[in-house]
Amino acid sequence: MPVADIIPMVTIIDRKWLNFGLFCSLLLTTSGLAADPKLECQACKDFVESFWQGHGNTAKSNFGGGNTDWEETRLGSYATSETRLVEILEHACSSGSAKDQCHQFAEKHEDQIENWYFHRQKSDPDFEGWLCVKNAKVCCPKNTFGKLCDHCPIGDSDFPCSGRGECDGNGTTSGTGKCRCQKGYTGLTCDSCGNGFEEVERDSVLLLCEDVNECELDPHTCNDREYCFNTQGAYTCNKCHVACKGCTGAGTARCKACAEGYVLSNGTCTDEDLVEEEDDADGGTEPAGESVIPDLSSPIPGTSSDTDPSIALPDHAHFEL
Ligand SMILES: *[C@@H]1O[C@H](CO)[C@@H](O)[C@H](O)[C@H]1NC(C)=O
Ligand SMILES: *[C@@H]1O[C@H](CO)[C@@H](O)[C@H](O)[C@H]1NC(C)=O
Repeated sequence: MPVADIIPMVTIIDRKWLNFGLFCSLLLTTSGLAADPKLECQACKDFVESFWQGHGNTAKSNFGGGNTDWEETRLGSYATSETRLVEILEHACSSGSAKDQCHQFAEKHEDQIENWYFHRQKSDPDFEGWLCVKNAKVCCPKNTFGKLCDHCPIGDSDFPCSGRGECDGNGTTSGTGKCRCQKGYTGLTCDSCGNGFEEVERDSVLLLCEDVNECELDPHTCNDREYCFNTQGAYTCNKCHVACKGCTGAGTARCKACAEGYVLSNGTCTDEDLVEEEDDADGGTEPAGESVIPDLSSPIPGTSSDTDPSIALPDHAHFEL
């Protein structure tokens, strides 16, 4: 193929890729929310909540001067004025953890928000239902789920999933409608105990499942440098402190024995060297190991001060500086 034929092809491919790139970045900026319907529903709810907050905050406001009679005739009531809407929107989405999503939502659905504010407020006072469910269509009514807002199939709405779970996707345009059981429960209607839980009580409505303490059942599942730690529905093997040679729990006070280089001092495994230093520093009141403690209660008259451990104090104090 002659070089002249190749070059135009390359530019065509380039342009295609360029367009594709533009398309992708457009997709990313305009519909970053669309990826997760649950987030979009939440963003709508957040927006409506902050809208009502702003609505409350501006309840006592007027057009500004307090000379509202003249203005209300000329501009209409402040209560349903554009001035108030602007004020509310200015402060909307200012709290909550997902401010960006809330702002993006408000921008994307600006027309609908204005439509409700100017024309539907009276006839449809339920702003959230009107906006999130009926018009922006990012949420479903409660007890329904999925793209078509199907009814949650399991249990009646007062007692879904036996009262021990919730319909997956409840109130959003996503989900499976199956029960998502609370911790400790499982099954189609959350009517049995989950892994790591055992049944302690059951009658026609009540089912009580409690965590099994795996560590009490079989503490030997961890190796000898670890201890067993019970968690809800499971257990973990955690490493013993380096000062320990085997242990029953965290820290230096739960050692089965002290590791090499550590000695038991006041109930904890402590670095040998530190123990010796401490003994010297605090005047040897703390007996450790086989070190010989001078009997201070009956000083032998005339003995030289080199047996008096308090002499060591200035030296060590100096070292510690
Ligand atoms: C759906 O959520 C609402 C609260 O928003 C709750 O009252 C209802 O019981 C839930 N329904 C199901 C089927 O999980
Ligand atoms: C010994 O341990 C106890 C409790 O941990 C503590 O209150 C006490 O001060 C310790 N004594 C010494 C001399 O370190």
